[in-house]
Amino acid sequence: MNKLILVTGGTGYIGSHTVVELMNEGFDVVIIDNLSNSEKSVLNGIAEITGRRPFFEQFDICDKKRLHDFFRIYKKLDSIIHFAAYKAVGESIEKPLMYYQNNLTSLMNLLEGMIEFKIPHFVFSSSATVYGQPDQLPVNEEAPFKTADSPYGNTKQIAEEIIRDTVNANDNLKAISLRYFNPIGAHSSALIGELPRGVPNNLVPFITQTAAGVRNELKIFGDDYNTPDGTAIRDYINVVDLAKAHVVSIKRMIEQKSKSDLEIFNLGTGKGSSVMEIVNAFEKSTGEKLNYKIVGKRAGDVESVYADITYANKELGWKAEIGLEETLLSAWNWEKYLRNKKR
Ligand code: NAD
Ligand code: UFG
Repeated sequence: MNKLILVTGGTGYIGSHTVVELMNEGFDVVIIDNLSNSEKSVLNGIAEITGRRPFFEQFDICDKKRLHDFFRIYKKLDSIIHFAAYKAVGESIEKPLMYYQNNLTSLMNLLEGMIEFKIPHFVFSSSATVYGQPDQLPVNEEAPFKTADSPYGNTKQIAEEIIRDTVNANDNLKAISLRYFNPIGAHSSALIGELPRGVPNNLVPFITQTAAGVRNELKIFGDDYNTPDGTAIRDYINVVDLAKAHVVSIKRMIEQKSKSDLEIFNLGTGKGSSVMEIVNAFEKSTGEKLNYKIVGKRAGDVESVYADITYANKELGWKAEIGLEETLLSAWNWEKYLRNKKR
């Protein structure tokens, strides 16, 4: 399909992998990114993998006038996939207004542009964080929102409401909100991956940096949860599998298969893994020994969350295919590529 797709945040972690999958499927892509959390060199990785270069525009989507000018130039847009957002949970607690401002203003500017310029399809990056600690596991899309643990989580809940109200009020607008569980790993080529700034908050980049000797030791946050080995459980999903679900979502809207104006899908594997299981799987797949120690729980962490993926399976015909060990190995290969580049 040679339709033109706007990918906001397309030089970021999940965005860059999605751009690759879109281009592999024949879509044309224009990225908007202000590079607040990514680098322009990511475009080289994308070009090397796909043999093509996406269009790239560097600016802040919160700049309404600049975005309006963009829509006037790129008249043939078919769909928007909106990744651009700030995503650090801890930082959002310290700087809530920065998070509300960036994550919600960017969304509203895009939706206004879609209405004015008649762009019919929208895919939104939501998060399992909207569920908090669910009452039932695996958690399905019908589960109620729990009070969000952070301003970041609030922005995802509010964003889904903004999108719902907007599609309800506009006949020609369709949206799909994808609730990601824990995206990990990198492209198998090791040419694109996650670029954490400073000390990583997330488990897998912390693991790979520890194995690479950048960090002294991994701290495992809590071993007295009510889980089989006492460590917390999450649903870790390969970022390429996750990216493919965006392509499927775009095609679903183009082919007019949506069952409602806003559809919501969980994107996970359906299987929970504990922190200790991730550590063991990493050691097994890479042959690296990890230096770790158990410390107290991290504030705000839930005990266990993993996805019910029945709905995504049935409606999108999508499921995660890459196993945990292969995924952790891809994360490790990416870390080694980064270290070599820095030498
Ligand atoms: P990322 O930080 O790697 O990518 C986001 C990109 O958006 C960055 O390149 C950044 O420079 C850009 N950006 C941010 N604000 C912008 C603005 N106002 N204008 C233009 N560009 C802007 O993050 P990611 O991990 O790829 O996450 C993508 C999306 O998925 C985010 O919305 C995030 O909240 C959501 N999400 C991520 C995870 C995860 O664990 N990574 C989990 C659930 C949901
Ligand atoms: N963990 C450690 N040590 C670390 C880092 C993490 O033990 O150094 C543990 C955490 O306590 C948690 C698990 O590893 O039990 C996963 O932690 P992450 O920080 O990797 O991921 P979270 O589940 O906390 O959060 C992620 C995203 C959020 C998103 C949320 C939705 O980072 O943006 O998933 O489920 F909101």
